[in-house]
Amino acid sequence: MKRNILTIILLVTCNISSFSQTRQPLYKDKNAPIEDRIENLLGLMTLDEKIKQMNQWTYGQNANPNNIGDKMKAVSPLIGSLLYRSTHPEYRNQIQKKAMEESRLGIPIIFGFDCIHGYRTIFPISLAQACSWNTDLVKKSCEISAKESWLSGLDWTFSPMLDVARDARWGRVSEGYGEDSYATSQFAIAAVNGYQGANLADKYTIAACLKHYVGYSLSEGGRDYHYSDVSMQTLWETFLPPFEAGIKAGAATVMSGFNDISGVPASANHYTLTEILKEKWNHDGFVISDWGSVRNLVEQGVAKDKKEAGMKSFLAGVEMDMVDDVYVDYLPELVAEGKISMTAIDEAVRRILRVKMQLGLFENPYVDVVSEENRYLLPEYLEVAEQLASESMVLLKNDNQTLPISSKYKNLAIIGPMAKDSINIMGSWEGMGRPEDVETIYEGLEKEFKNKADLHYAKGCDFDGDDRNGFSEALKAAEKSDVVIVFLGEKKNWSGENGSRSSIALPKIQEDLVEELLKAKKPIILVLSSGRPLELIRLNKLADAVVEIWQPGTMAGSAVAGILSGRHNPSGKLSITFPQSTGQIPIYYNMRESARPTLGHYQDIPRDPLYWFGHGLSYTTYEYSNIKLSSTQIKRSETLTAEVEVTNSGDIDGKEAVLWFIKDPVATISRPMKELQFFDKKFIKAGEKAIYRFEIDPMRDLSYVDSFGKKHLEAGDYFVIVNEQKISFQIID
Ligand code: BGC
Repeated sequence: MKRNILTIILLVTCNISSFSQTRQPLYKDKNAPIEDRIENLLGLMTLDEKIKQMNQWTYGQNANPNNIGDKMKAVSPLIGSLLYRSTHPEYRNQIQKKAMEESRLGIPIIFGFDCIHGYRTIFPISLAQACSWNTDLVKKSCEISAKESWLSGLDWTFSPMLDVARDARWGRVSEGYGEDSYATSQFAIAAVNGYQGANLADKYTIAACLKHYVGYSLSEGGRDYHYSDVSMQTLWETFLPPFEAGIKAGAATVMSGFNDISGVPASANHYTLTEILKEKWNHDGFVISDWGSVRNLVEQGVAKDKKEAGMKSFLAGVEMDMVDDVYVDYLPELVAEGKISMTAIDEAVRRILRVKMQLGLFENPYVDVVSEENRYLLPEYLEVAEQLASESMVLLKNDNQTLPISSKYKNLAIIGPMAKDSINIMGSWEGMGRPEDVETIYEGLEKEFKNKADLHYAKGCDFDGDDRNGFSEALKAAEKSDVVIVFLGEKKNWSGENGSRSSIALPKIQEDLVEELLKAKKPIILVLSSGRPLELIRLNKLADAVVEIWQPGTMAGSAVAGILSGRHNPSGKLSITFPQSTGQIPIYYNMRESARPTLGHYQDIPRDPLYWFGHGLSYTTYEYSNIKLSSTQIKRSETLTAEVEVTNSGDIDGKEAVLWFIKDPVATISRPMKELQFFDKKFIKAGEKAIYRFEIDPMRDLSYVDSFGKKHLEAGDYFVIVNEQKISFQIID
C-alpha cells in the first residue's frame, strides 16, 4: 500500500512539474476536446484538489428550516461547489474570481440552488404544473427560471423532482408531477430542456438535477425520510422511467435520495446509482447526495460512522457530497488505506469536471451583472406565470354552471384566510420569491371586477386554530352578496419537505366556516389552495362549485380572478387522484385489478375516489367522436395510429387535453387497469373541432418491463382508451 501511495505522490509531482513548464495547459484550451481537457487537468491535480471538487459547501442564510447548516465564513478558492443562497451575481463573481485566480489550477466552482418552481418569478408548484398537461408552457417556465437564476449567479438547479407520488400524506407530493410515471417523464423532459437549453454552455442555461433518485415517495405511511419498501417491479415500472427519460433528455446531474430502498439506502445503492444509472443508461454526469444523506447512512444503520458512510456512498456511485463534509474529512484516509482507489477518485472527479466543462465554466466563469429590474419579473415572465397558473387550476365541480361568475351578480362575498394571502399561495420551495411580488387573489379580483361588482371581504377564520370570532362578519358579508366565494387551503409548510400530515383534510375551523356560510343560502364557490390533494368528503357537498388552484405563485391573483370571471376557461385536469378520505390512500388510477373486483373496498366510504386522476371540467363542452385505429391487427414491428375527433360543442373557446391510455387485459404479469401512454393539449374554438392522434409504437407503448428492467411485448389483445371509450386491437406474431 505504501508503494501505491508513493507512486501516487510521484505521479502527481511529475504532473505538477510538467504543469509549471507549460504556459497554457491543454485543459485551458477551449477548442480542445472536452475529454482530453479533463484528462489533462486530472493529471495535474493533487488528491486534495480532487477531493475538494467532490464536496459542496453552503453559502448564505438557509431558508429551509429542515436544513440549517453551518454558515460558511470564508470561501476557499479550492472548493468544488457552493449551494449559493444569495441573489447577488457580483458576489458570485467575486467568489469565482478567487477560485479562478487564487487556486493553483483555476478550477471554477459550480454554484447550485433549489430553483424548483421559479427563482424570483414564482410559477405554480410542480404538482399543479402537471395538471396543465402543457409541456411547452412548463418548459418555458423552466427557461425563465434558468435565466433569472443564471443572472443571479447560478449554474445549477436541484430540479426537477421526479418522485412519482401516490400518498398525499407525504408533503413532497407538491414538488413532483403527480401519480403517473409517463406524465412525470414528459414533464421531466420539458424541465430538463427548459433549464439546460440547446447547449449548457450558452448564457442563461443551468444544469438540471433529477431527484430524488429513487423511490423516495414510497416513504412508509407518507412520513418523510422514512423507509421505503420498493419492489423491483415497482422500481422498474413506476419509479425509474421518469429518471431514464430525464437522463435521455440530457440531464447533467442526479441527486440520490434520503430514503432506504428496501434495506439499501438510496445514497449507498450500487444497483441504482452505478449499475442502472451509469452502466445501463450511460449517464456521464455526476450524482450529488441529498442534504446530509451520506452521514445519514449512520442513522439508517448501514454504516458505523461517518467514515464508513462516506466509503459506502462513494463506492455506490455518489460523486459529490452535499454539505456534510464527509468526503473532505474521510476520503483522504480511505484512499491512503487502499479502501478507495485513485482510479475511482479520478472517475468521480472526471464526471464533475465534465459537467463544469459542458457548462463552459472554464472559459466563461462569470455571469453577467444586470440590474434587478432587467433580471426579474419581466412582463413576459409574468404572462407565462399567469398562463401556467390558470392552466394548472382544476375545476372539480360546477353544479348549475355556478362558474364563471355571472355578470348579473353585483355583490361578491370574498371570504377566507387565503383571499389576501401572499406567502402561502407561493407554496414551499419558493426560491427567492417575495410576498411583495405576489398579486393576491383579492387584488386580482379587485382588478377583474372593477366597475362590474362590489367585493365584500371578511377573513372568517385563520388557517387553523379554533377562533370563530370572524364567522359572524363573514356571514354578514355573505348575506349582502349574490354569491359567496370562499378561499381556503393549506399553509405552505403543511406540504413540501418534512410536511407530512396524518390527515389530508383541511382543519376543522375551515370546514366549519363553510357550514356557517350556508346559512346565507347563497351559491357557494369553494376555491382551494393546497400542496396536495385534499380530503373533501364533507366540503365538496357543501359547495356548488369547487376549484383547486394549488399554490399558483406570483400571478395567483390574475390567474384565479381570470378563472372565476371566465376570462380563462379552465383546462386543468388532475395529475393526482383526490381520495374520498385519508384512509383511502393509496388510491391511484393505474392500480392493479383485485382478485374480487367488486369486493374488498372500504365499507364506510364509496368505492371510487372523489375525483380520479384526469378529472377536470371546463366552461365549454367537448364531444369525442370518430375514434378509430389505423388497423385492428398489427405485428410487433408495425406501428398503429389512434385518432379521435374532439368538438368544442359549447360556446366558449377552450383548450382540451386528451389523455390516451392503454390496457393489456392478459399478460404474463398482471398489468395496471389502464396506463397513460400519451397526451396532447390543443386549443379549440367554440363550434370547431380538432383531431388528436396517438402514434403507437408497440415496444414503447404496449410492452411491460419486468423486475430486472427487461421489456417484453406479448402478442394478444390490447385496448386504447380515450375519454372512457375503449377500442380493441391485437398484436399478432
Ligand atoms: C432536499 C432536496 C434539496 C436539498 C438542498 C434537501 O433537504 O431534500 O430536495 O435539493 O435539501 O436544499
